[in-house]
Amino acid sequence: MAKKLFIKTYGCQMNVYDSARMADVLAPLGYAKTETPDDADMVIINTCHIREKAAEKVFSELGHWRIRKAEARERGGDVTIAVAGCVAQAEGEEIHARAPFVDLVVGPQAYHRLPELLAKAERHRALASGKGSGVLDTEFPVESKFDHLPEQVATPPGPVGFLAIQEGCDKFCTFCVVPYTRGAEYSRPAAAVIAEAERLIDAGAVEVALLGQNVNAWHGEGPDGKTWSLGRLLRELNDRFAHKHPKLRWRYTTSHPREMDDELIAAHRDVAGLMPFLHLPIQSGSDAILKAMNRGHRAEDYLRIVGKLRQARPDIALTSDFITGFPGESDRDFEATLQLVRDVGFAQAYSFKYSPRPGTPGSLMPQQVSDAVSTERLYALQALLQEQSAAFNRACVGRSMDVLVERPGRQPGQLLGRSPYMQSVVLNDPAVKIGDFITVTVTDGHANSLFGDVAGASREAA
Ligand code: SAH
Ligand code: SF4
Ligand code: F3S
Repeated sequence: MAKKLFIKTYGCQMNVYDSARMADVLAPLGYAKTETPDDADMVIINTCHIREKAAEKVFSELGHWRIRKAEARERGGDVTIAVAGCVAQAEGEEIHARAPFVDLVVGPQAYHRLPELLAKAERHRALASGKGSGVLDTEFPVESKFDHLPEQVATPPGPVGFLAIQEGCDKFCTFCVVPYTRGAEYSRPAAAVIAEAERLIDAGAVEVALLGQNVNAWHGEGPDGKTWSLGRLLRELNDRFAHKHPKLRWRYTTSHPREMDDELIAAHRDVAGLMPFLHLPIQSGSDAILKAMNRGHRAEDYLRIVGKLRQARPDIALTSDFITGFPGESDRDFEATLQLVRDVGFAQAYSFKYSPRPGTPGSLMPQQVSDAVSTERLYALQALLQEQSAAFNRACVGRSMDVLVERPGRQPGQLLGRSPYMQSVVLNDPAVKIGDFITVTVTDGHANSLFGDVAGASREAA
């Protein structure tokens, strides 16, 4: 009988991708994925370390699994508990100390060694009854884990396929843990990316999202042996696979302003399947804060990139990330952030209060900003960003758009799709199903979503 594997994923899309790949690695060992935690023989908690709140979730989640494991043992069974992801990498030893019932801790670069770790955990378990088995692997291999992951896809991709093309980060922004938890920047060779894209599309994906912590820093080896840029790769992918689906979509995330080169900007003009959307985090609009964050560019550089992007693709929707209350941020610095937001006009954005992370230079800086001030700025920024996203969405009312239906909505009978601009589109039409690619007339626009009616008989099965 197949053993059941439950994976709980926190954090970014890289973790979502990795969770699917861990299922791939474990499939040959007889593990089949389950969506119900209660019947799991093994659980993987794939964790995120980006802010304190994210990291804290791990220990509360583990509390629940400790009880599940004890109950299973009383019945003569067991539940194997694995902690993966960025908290595993950053706090592996602490997890074993605080939660000794955890069987294995595996860092993001060691997933290809899961079978070996599991075998080790089982051997340990035979010796240490009652406790976990305390296996830890957070080594960074010399070469990338991608080259060691199996090819088959244990989980069908659904309408949107995630494809990691780049891993790690060398930017060392002074607030961020990613360079420590994910290791150095690595680009997969174009041939591997092309092969995986083809598998995803053949398995039913009609949108492929290329992923990386610094996706536009991708500089992989091209099939011609030369180093390619992301712009070149996107052209190649679209040229090769556009014939497979008339509306095949490409996206990429997350990008860094410093890596937004002209070839990539030109791809937004020339590559028909590349969606008119870009998530381009800036964090702050103040040059002094950008410098203290080690972002490597000024506010005016960002504005110049935005200008070029809009020239290449006038309707491009831009989104971003912001941090309020970075050490040393004054009222004037914060005002510069608000001004940048007004100058750009975002379709949507994420904003966070600065969270000092252990081991990062930011956490040691003097002039930490009080929580009250960070919070006040966060609310002011969010009010402005909400106004902008509501205005962007309202301006879409009456337009007709291609929508890819991705998943069930909150209310019964509702489905959620994505517009080309990455807006969530709520649909209430019994004839529509997940995977449909439909033309929708936008009937209403709110800050976080659009509502739409299916227009005419434009329905196409994906
Ligand atoms: N690689 C991406 C971001 C990855 S992390 C980039 O360079 O932009 C996603 C977002 O989390 C960041 O853009 C930032 O806004 C936020 N973030 C990262 N570390 C943080 C911290 N210590 N406190 C608050 N927000 C943080
Ligand atoms: Fe973190 Fe900066 Fe790297 Fe983004 S670019 S992952 S924010 S260090
Ligand atoms: Fe979190 Fe690690 Fe992603 S810290 S945001 S899961 S790279």
